[in-house]
Amino acid sequence: MAILVTGGAGYIGSHTCVALLNAGYDITVVDNFSNSKPSSLKRVTEITGKEFRIHNVSLLDKVGLEKVFSDGEIDAVIHFAGLKSVCESLTMPLQYYYNNIMGTVVLCETMQKFGTRHMVFSSSATVYGGHGHKALAEDQPLAPINPYGQTKMMLEQILTDQCAANPKWSVALLRYFNPVGAHESALIGEDPNGVPNNLVPYITQVAIGKLKELTIYGNDYPTHDGTCIRDYIHILDLANAHLKALRYVFSTSGIEAFNVGSGRGYSVLDVIDAFQKASGIEIPRRIGPRRPGDVPVSLADVSRAKTLLQWQAEYDLLAMCRDSWRWQLNNPNGYS
Ligand code: WQD
Repeated sequence: MAILVTGGAGYIGSHTCVALLNAGYDITVVDNFSNSKPSSLKRVTEITGKEFRIHNVSLLDKVGLEKVFSDGEIDAVIHFAGLKSVCESLTMPLQYYYNNIMGTVVLCETMQKFGTRHMVFSSSATVYGGHGHKALAEDQPLAPINPYGQTKMMLEQILTDQCAANPKWSVALLRYFNPVGAHESALIGEDPNGVPNNLVPYITQVAIGKLKELTIYGNDYPTHDGTCIRDYIHILDLANAHLKALRYVFSTSGIEAFNVGSGRGYSVLDVIDAFQKASGIEIPRRIGPRRPGDVPVSLADVSRAKTLLQWQAEYDLLAMCRDSWRWQLNNPNGYS
């Protein structure tokens, strides 16, 4: 079975490539390396002992993409490629709409031309927008509050319309909550550009001495300790969810959304405590003002993935912190 992985050199993409190769799939990676490094793919081979085709192609390059599809039959696509920073999307919305939407439309047109009808799509919990305190189910109305989340909601609609017009198509929309952690080898992991926006990579860079202290964005939220609650999920659990979704799309047709989280919520202070326990390192912190766009609680109802994908998260928060720390310790400057 041949799988095309767009954005395969990225954080989630590289971990999913390892899982696919270990499960015996043939893979081809398409990546323009605008937000990732080719060395991550070399390390995928180091971990698995398997080689695979790599094309440095943008999804906006229709001719280049058609060359990839004519290179050999592709049975399914796992589509990660896209711009993915919430705060960046607020400052450059046009690039986000053009890159994420047009890239996916060109990919779908090329799939259609070459008869590939199965896709696992990288969506996001940001499609839900501001949440309440309860766990979010997939039929919750979507109300994204930033351009990044808007692109994911629009792409879900575009794929829904494509499946309605082409009943043989089969698509799984995976709405990721908060991915953290790294492969146990510490050969691949999260390598943010510049100062990290996200909590765990920021903490690991404080722990390694690259950053001075962690600013907690607000401790006056209506939660057990005043800091925001998120549904963190180990990257290895997330990678495994893609394999289960791949099996699912070959077993049915049409389109279905799945929350991919652990179903357990942890506050910022909970994460700091768990990291200190996992690393033995005290994290200096200060309380700062709330970050615009943050919601008090983001928590997944994961019952649909459990039932239809026979998937659930296995790793706990301590393992997420332990594996994030091992990656950072072994790669103080990421892949560079
Ligand atoms: C978590 C909590 C912050 C940094 C992000 C992306 C979203 C999605 C999931 C792609 C919040 C607090 C953070 C810091 C802090 N990814 N925090 N100090 O915002 O839930 O979602 O990951 O789909 O697009 O935005 O994750 O890790 O940024 O923040 O206090 O230095 O940690 O306020 O409460 P978020 P995050």
